[in-house]
This record gives sequence, structure tokens and C-alpha cells, in this order.
Amino acid sequence: MVNVYEAAAKFYDALSGERCVYRAGRELGVALLALRAGDTVLDLGCGTGLNLALLVDAAGPSGTVIGLDRSPEMLEIARRRVEANGWTSVRLIKADATTFNPSVVAKELPAASGGHVDAVFSSYAMSVFDDWHPAWDRMRALLSPGGRAGIVDMQLPVGRARVFSPLVRLAAAVGGADLAAWPWTVLEREGVQVQHESVRGGHIQVVAATIP
Ligand SMILES: C[S@@+](CC[C@H](N)C(=O)[O-])C[C@H]1O[C@@H](n2cnc3c(N)ncnc32)[C@H](O)[C@@H]1O
Repeated sequence: MVNVYEAAAKFYDALSGERCVYRAGRELGVALLALRAGDTVLDLGCGTGLNLALLVDAAGPSGTVIGLDRSPEMLEIARRRVEANGWTSVRLIKADATTFNPSVVAKELPAASGGHVDAVFSSYAMSVFDDWHPAWDRMRALLSPGGRAGIVDMQLPVGRARVFSPLVRLAAAVGGADLAAWPWTVLEREGVQVQHESVRGGHIQVVAATIP
């Protein structure tokens, strides 16, 4: 079967509805993650790197941002974005989010990190994974106790915005997203200081929490 994130990676930024729909969710998600200068953060399913500017900005020049994705084509666009912006604090890893060994991330971290990140983040990706649970297990294993986790993902719109449901279903079918996956619910179950927001008529769910 054709993998849209390999075959059509070069069209992703232009055709993914970033400006009109999805940017609002990633901006809110990174804001709720509450990164501090010098933090290390993992972006799981980073794609073309649309979160990178926000994460690099929040973690500052002394921070480290690690993007992980299984598509070499998406990562190549992320790599070019990193190069064009001169971000020396970004590392990109090609791996499957549901099966990777956390050591592949740990070895990219500063020695002082003890092999853990201060924050984990994923936007519009966990609903695309075949099963997000093993990905969450890996995020959690890498996260320092008391670290922050943020998940931004999609469901069908609610209320009056339900009128857009056919469009959302079509976009999800093209992108291979499961609109019933609801990966953010794990943060409500396992986290404390949970912040839950939604935008775009409930289509985009934005949740951040501290994971004890
Ligand atoms: C809809 S894109 C989201 C990309 C980015 N997070 C964003 O906010 O624009 C979904 C991404 O998940 C990646 N992906 C899907 N399954 C994956 C897996 N099992 N492991 C790692 N990445 C995966 C795809 O390659 C794609 O880059």
C-alpha cells in the first residue's frame, strides 16, 4: 500500500491545512508544554518539522530538540528546515515510534540528561500510528519523572462544527488517521496538572500534563 507520508511528503506542508486549521493546535500544544530554557524535548512523529521552530524557540539555544519519524521523505524536509534555520540544537532520528529502542534517543541527549528528556510532545501523529500505546510507553520511558507531556490530535468536530465532519473524515482517510484513537486520554489518566483545551470546533484536542 502507498504510504502517503513517503509518496507525498513534499506536498505535506502546502496541503495539510496548516495555516487555516492545524497551526492553532500546535501553537497551543507547545505553549501548554511550558518548556524552560535548556530543556530537552522529544517530538514523536515529527514529520516535516512544523513544530521545530516553536520547540527550538521555547527550549532556547541551550536546549535540545529531537524529532523522530519513520518516513525518510518527511525527515528530509525536516532536515532541510533545520539547515535553512541554522538550528544546531535539533537532532532527527529515523525510527518507528511504536517499536524503537529508547536508547536511540538517549544517545542523542546531552550527557547531563541521564538519558531522559524533560518533555515529550506529539502532534497529529499518534492517531496515524498503527497503535499509539507502545509509542506512549516509549515516550514515558524516556521522560524524566515529573516531566511534561503534550499531545495534540484530532477527532470529529462537535456541535455546530459537525457540518465539517465529511471534510474531516476525508482528510483523515487520506492521512491514515484514526479519528477514534484519542491518544490524549492517556495524559488524563496518567498525568497530574492536566490542561485540556480544544480548538476548531472540537476537532483538535490539545492536552498537556505533568507525568509523575
Ligand atoms: C500527519 S503527520 C504529522 C507530522 C507532524 N507531527 C505535524 O504536526 O505536522 C504524521 C506523521 O507520523 C509519521 N508516522 C506514522 N506512523 C509512524 C510510526 N509508526 N513511527 C514514526 N512515525 C510515524 C508519518 O511519517 C508522518 O510524518
